[in-house]
Amino acid sequence: MSKTIKGFSKLTKSAKIDWLATNFAHDPIPFKQTLARYLNSDKVVQQLHDEFIENTITNFYLPYGIAPNFIINNKSYVIPMAIEESSVVAAASMVAKYWSTRGGFTARVLSTEKTGQIHFISSRTYDELYTYFTKIKSDLIASTDDLTENMRKRGGGIKELQLVDKTNDLANYYQLHLSFNTVDSMGANFINSCLERIARQFEKEGIEIVMSILSNYLPHCIARAEVSCPIADLGKDGQNFAEKFYQAVQIAQVEPYRAVTHNKGIMNGIDAVVIATGNDFRAVEAGAHAHASNSGQYRSLTQCSITDGMFRFWIEIPLSLGTVGGLTTSHPLAKLSLELLQNPSANELMEIVAVAGLAQNFAALNALITTGIQKGHMKMHLQNILNQLGANADEKAKVNLLFKEETVSHSSVKAALQKLRTQA
Ligand code: MEV
Repeated sequence: MSKTIKGFSKLTKSAKIDWLATNFAHDPIPFKQTLARYLNSDKVVQQLHDEFIENTITNFYLPYGIAPNFIINNKSYVIPMAIEESSVVAAASMVAKYWSTRGGFTARVLSTEKTGQIHFISSRTYDELYTYFTKIKSDLIASTDDLTENMRKRGGGIKELQLVDKTNDLANYYQLHLSFNTVDSMGANFINSCLERIARQFEKEGIEIVMSILSNYLPHCIARAEVSCPIADLGKDGQNFAEKFYQAVQIAQVEPYRAVTHNKGIMNGIDAVVIATGNDFRAVEAGAHAHASNSGQYRSLTQCSITDGMFRFWIEIPLSLGTVGGLTTSHPLAKLSLELLQNPSANELMEIVAVAGLAQNFAALNALITTGIQKGHMKMHLQNILNQLGANADEKAKVNLLFKEETVSHSSVKAALQKLRTQA
């Protein structure tokens, strides 16, 4: 039996759910109940979610947590994080507190250039195209004047426009390569609108536009965050800790299997803040991993040094973020996150997000080279297992106590809970 449908998007929400329940649910009643439980009872909020995407049938929530006590460039921050992975917020909070007594984090934006490209095919020579390009270059830019007016007032806009010969890579392939400054907006719509306008103006007989699109590769839109302190301040086993930590970072520099996991841990912190502030985490992920491969091999995004008794740990990462426009303006929780962050500029947000990534990597390496990662993970995992097993507050307290030193597994927690229940 065919389970395809025409005009799904035109059905009402409940008709969509009926069709799904009839065709795909094992049991339509719990299926519909689960969808209904995650709908928002506030009609305004629900309508907002309904309109973010097409075919919304419910909402998929993430926990929204706060990591307090961050000191960044001598200013106090609480960092909002939207993430489902247990221990990420706890780790960020722990690291924030740790570094708050060691000078805090320093962070700065190294560059803010974004890129867009018009890819086109032409059988003409580069020289012919270049003559045409130079003749109409100012018209190309002027064709976007109405689009760029507001951005130019804020100091942004199109910064550069070049013709690039790519025919060595692919027959007849050329580009118009553009640099943008999008100030406090992420700028995706702005960049793509400018590109499409310029492409239309540039196209003529003998020039076939293939596509016009921004690039998420951002080697010139980089934030840097750092922590440093004398090794003596790292604690009683400071020298050993610093050396092992340094070694762990070096391993992630030379070994791609480790580097990917190392960077995944960094992205735990980065994505959580990017999502909480309504930014595009897929764009940030794509750019970060491309940056990690800049040398031709996938490497750690963080680096570490030990010189003259000083421990130094830093990250440099491309981040395309906005604090105005898009979801940052239209999602009330994204707005609230920015309020918690004291309404940062996009540059400040880049610094905060870089810090969140560095903090998360510090937490992971700290755990990995000392107690191992499972201790912290399992503490949070225990709460998830207890919730899954429907433990009440009293049972949770008792099982938490039992597993203070024990290894957590689903079966061991289940057995402990069963024992408690039969004793009660
Ligand atoms: C888990 O989400 C992240 C870690 O694997 C990161 C790392 O190994 O560095 C703990």
